[in-house]
Amino acid sequence: MTEHAMTEHACTPVTVIGLGSMGRALAEAYVGAGHPTTVWNRTPSKGAPLVALGARQARTVDEAVAASPLVIACLTTFESTVEALGPAAGTIGGRTLVTLNSGSPAGARAMADWALGHGARYLGGAVKNVPSAVGAEDTLLYYGGDRGVFDEHAATLRVLGGDTVHLGDDPDLAALYEMAVGGTLLPALVGFFQGAAALRARGLDAASMVRFGAKWFEMIGALLPVFAGEIDRGDYGDAASSVDLFLAGAAHDVAFAEEAGLDVEWHRPFHDLLRRAVDAGHGGHSISALTEVLRSPAHPA
Ligand SMILES: NC(=O)c1ccc[n+]([C@@H]2O[C@H](COP(=O)([O-])OP(=O)(O)OC[C@H]3O[C@@H](n4cnc5c(N)ncnc54)[C@H](OP(=O)(O)O)[C@@H]3O)[C@@H](O)[C@H]2O)c1
Repeated sequence: MTEHAMTEHACTPVTVIGLGSMGRALAEAYVGAGHPTTVWNRTPSKGAPLVALGARQARTVDEAVAASPLVIACLTTFESTVEALGPAAGTIGGRTLVTLNSGSPAGARAMADWALGHGARYLGGAVKNVPSAVGAEDTLLYYGGDRGVFDEHAATLRVLGGDTVHLGDDPDLAALYEMAVGGTLLPALVGFFQGAAALRARGLDAASMVRFGAKWFEMIGALLPVFAGEIDRGDYGDAASSVDLFLAGAAHDVAFAEEAGLDVEWHRPFHDLLRRAVDAGHGGHSISALTEVLRSPAHPA
């Protein structure tokens, strides 16, 4: 990059729409990195701390959009983003809109249609971390949308996190990966909370299992490439951990729950899933064969 181009990047004006916990962190990162930063929020009082840091607060969303070639929106949903940006529909043309809210792939496609329909360019993104991690070298954000648009703004987007990834040209890819990756969160956390409940019932601190739990998650992480390979090849024959083995373990879960006095109703659907896999002929197959059962809903929508 030439010195001139670097200077241009450092000067790229950025508008941040939505100053909740995440939007405020995004705006702070841009002010901290020296970008002229314009902010707008439905509830204007949330702009005051950013103005104190050096941001400019727009009075209207239209004025905010007009201020910068790059507009980053971080509202609660795609629907609220379309609603909030409505008054700026005539101004957004020729600018790049980036959304960083959670939502469904369908919501992201509708958002892209709205932006492209008003002449804007669009990247649908996701922040895969908490607000306090925004700006850190290893913070992950990913984006879907036109590669050329991503490349043009990559340096400015990287201000929000060093691990910035372009997933592909489809604008709904970040929403798709967000849903796909996020599916582990609730089962993993409920499993940890169940363990904590068992330890507390014995008068032991939950903190005493953190080191072991973290190591367990590391081990699960190390297995993901093995399972992904089986799923992508559709070959579940090399079963180091079979569906039958997991189903046998279900009996231990029930016995342990009784001994520890735990509510383990949440196990029931998992055990049903294992049984459906056995019924479908996957008993001797790798546990990753559950993917095949999950692809054929028991109760299609
Ligand atoms: N916080 C996190 O840890 C985290 C992490 C990763 C991703 N995210 C995602 O980031 C997005 C924002 O999260 P957040 O934590 O910043 O949420 P938040 O603190 O609840 O803030 C929500 C923001 O959306 C605005 N908003 C909602 N509906 C609106 C509407 N109809 N018109 C105009 N503005 C509207 C709110 O404006 P008002 O101030 O006027 O209410 C506020 O600025 C969500 O999709 C969330 O899933 C959050």
